[in-house]
Amino acid sequence: MIPLDIPRALRWSPADHALTILDQRHLPGEVVERELHSVDEVEAAIRTLAVRGAPAIGVAAALGLVAWVVREPAASRASILEATARLAQARPTAVNLPWAMARMRRVVEDSTAEGPLLRDQLAREAEAILAEDESMCAAIGRHGLPLIPDGARVLTHCNAGALATAGIGTALAPVYTAAAAGRRVEVIACETRPLLQGSRITAWELERAGIPVTLCTDGMAASLMGAGRVDLVIVGADRIAANGDVANKIGTYAHAVAARHHALPFYVAAPTSTVDVATPGGEAIVIEQRDPDEVRWLGERQLAPRGVAVHNPAFDVTPAALVTAIITDRGLVQSPFAFTA
Ligand code: MRU
Repeated sequence: MIPLDIPRALRWSPADHALTILDQRHLPGEVVERELHSVDEVEAAIRTLAVRGAPAIGVAAALGLVAWVVREPAASRASILEATARLAQARPTAVNLPWAMARMRRVVEDSTAEGPLLRDQLAREAEAILAEDESMCAAIGRHGLPLIPDGARVLTHCNAGALATAGIGTALAPVYTAAAAGRRVEVIACETRPLLQGSRITAWELERAGIPVTLCTDGMAASLMGAGRVDLVIVGADRIAANGDVANKIGTYAHAVAARHHALPFYVAAPTSTVDVATPGGEAIVIEQRDPDEVRWLGERQLAPRGVAVHNPAFDVTPAALVTAIITDRGLVQSPFAFTA
């Protein structure tokens, strides 16, 4: 196995119940780590995308809840339950967040303990969520490995790498696993307007891991496919409906349409915690709408007339019919999809 230097989105210190995140708002220019202690801090970190990516926000919310409870010995059962409800709503689209908060809530509801005993039970559950995410990423890597032949050119969108999870990522897990096994693999990273997770985060993460990466703007992807410079597409997911419709970063749908036109496989990689069997189809998925200024401005730089109307959904829904297969921690799920509990 070839060792790769894969960065981590978050670190947990069980001895002092300390949650440290890599604040992704500063990438790629600066590597800034921050410790989160309160529910307010965790909620703000999730809302502002300091920590981001469906699995990572679920894990961060669970560990952040514990970090707060430990530092707030007077926290009542009611206030802990209230905190899980608040954190579950910090962002609406990724199902991993309410999924992780439901697990933490159940610990409180199923326990008669108070004080340090309840805190220990919550810590054990949050640490289990962390460990499970790490191993689900590794399993996605193993199941996705056969899809990455030597010399593969993989197009991806947004960041569904290590920095979106507690492990080696989802969409990038098969890439890392192939590279570690000695296969030559390169990635075409779409920059991902408007918040540029592809250029700021994926390109940084892959460079650091030593994987060849070429950046393109979102609008260039179809022509690269047409020119025969892409072998397959792998993206992550924020929520997968029971029928296989996939909510993921805005722009994903366009890549799926282009991939189908060029007869290229379009894979979605996601842990089972991202599959929402309670949502029958994509039309029922709530899509986060974000601040119009994310499109009008790039930092201090004005990109559009101040008051121009802006459409800024954070995600889109790719119909299941355009998805070749879903790479999960339990194996490859082929179309047609029908997920059940
Ligand atoms: O708004 P973000 O950066 O949290 O969006 C992230 C994505 O869309 C990812 O592709 C998705 O969460 C999967 S991460 C493994």
